[in-house]
Amino acid sequence: MKSSNVVWHTATITRDHREKQSGHRSVILWFTGLSGAGKSTLAHAVEEHLFQRHCRTFTIDGDNVRHGLCADLGFSSDDRVENIRRVGELAKLFTEAGVLVLTAFISPFQADRDRVRALVPDGEFIEVYCQASLDICEGRDVKGLYKKARSGEIAHFTGISSPYEPPTSPELTVNTGEATIEACVAQVIQYLEAQGII
Ligand code: ADX
Repeated sequence: MKSSNVVWHTATITRDHREKQSGHRSVILWFTGLSGAGKSTLAHAVEEHLFQRHCRTFTIDGDNVRHGLCADLGFSSDDRVENIRRVGELAKLFTEAGVLVLTAFISPFQADRDRVRALVPDGEFIEVYCQASLDICEGRDVKGLYKKARSGEIAHFTGISSPYEPPTSPELTVNTGEATIEACVAQVIQYLEAQGII
C-alpha cells in the first residue's frame, strides 16, 4: 500500500442492511472464456432476467471498461493481470453495495481469477466458464479480430498468440458454443436459486 495515514471508515449502513433491502444476496458472477465465446451476451441476458425479478444488478463488461477505468492498459500479460485486479476490486465494491454483479472478461489466467475469488467470502465468487471452442469463436469472428490476429495485425491475441487457461474448478460450465442462450441463462438462474442467492 503506497498511501500512509489513511484510516478505514466503517459504514453504519452495512452490507447486511443492503442485502435485506435488495431481497437477495450480493455475489460476483464471473463469466470467463475466449473472445467471441458469448460472455457479454450471456451476462446481459442473465442480467435482464434478474432485473425482471427486481434484483439489483450491474454488468461490468471488458470492452467497456477498457474505454475508461482501464483505458491505460493493453493486452500484455502484465496489463491483463492489472485489468483483472482492478475489475476484481470494483466488483467487490459492488457486492458491498448489495448488488449482484456480473462481469464479462476473457480473464485468461487462473491465478488472476483465483485472486478475485480470494477478495470475497466463500461462495460469493461464482466462476462461470463460457465454453466455446476456438473453432467456433473464430468462425463467428463477430468483431473481425481473429482475422487480424491470424494475419499478425494484432499481437498477443487470446487463443491465437496468447494463452487461455480454462477454469480448473468453475462453479458452472455453460456451453455457449453450442447451447441456446435461453438454455445457458436457465442454467445460471437455476444455480443461483439452488444456492439461495435469489
Ligand atoms: S482480458 O484478457 O484482460 O480479460 P478483456 O476481456 O478486458 O481481456 O478484453 C477482451 C476484448 O478486447 C476482446 O473481446 C476483444 O474485443 C478485445 N481485444 C483487443 N485486442 C485483444 C487481444 N490481443 N486479445 C484479446 N482480446 C483483445
